[in-house]
Amino acid sequence: MKKIFALLALAGVANFAAAADIVGNAKAAENKVAMCIGCHGIPGYKATFPEVYQVPMLGGQSAKYIENALNAYKKGERKHPSMRGIAAGLSDQDIADVAAYYAQQK
Ligand code: HEC
Repeated sequence: MKKIFALLALAGVANFAAAADIVGNAKAAENKVAMCIGCHGIPGYKATFPEVYQVPMLGGQSAKYIENALNAYKKGERKHPSMRGIAAGLSDQDIADVAAYYAQQK
């Protein structure tokens, strides 16, 4: 019994450590941004999509800015309905990856 508690405690610590140092990985974002591209487009990508929405540019924004914006949609501090739906489906890791991806674009 004692052993199980010890293992649980260790697992808890490991989870906490993982959550504390999430590092954005731009490479991992490549298949997560597929759905963003339809609305936000890609700077440097010449074939522009028909623009249905007035959508802000993401490429070249700072990672922190993008992260804050996505977290604000997730928490409901920002109200745009489609972005709220999208942000709600992203994990903290997804947000970090996507932010790193857009931040490295020119
Ligand atoms: C259905 C179209 C649509 C999709 C898909 C979409 N967005 Fe957006 N996004 C918008 C619109 C419209 C806004 C502006 C909303 C507002 O005024 O708050 C926006 C705003 C944002 C902002 C805030 C930018 C700023 O300068 O304030 C970020 C960050 C963002 N989107 C990231 C993403 C990411 C990352 C994805 C993919 C996971 C994504 N969006 C997918 C339409 C979309």
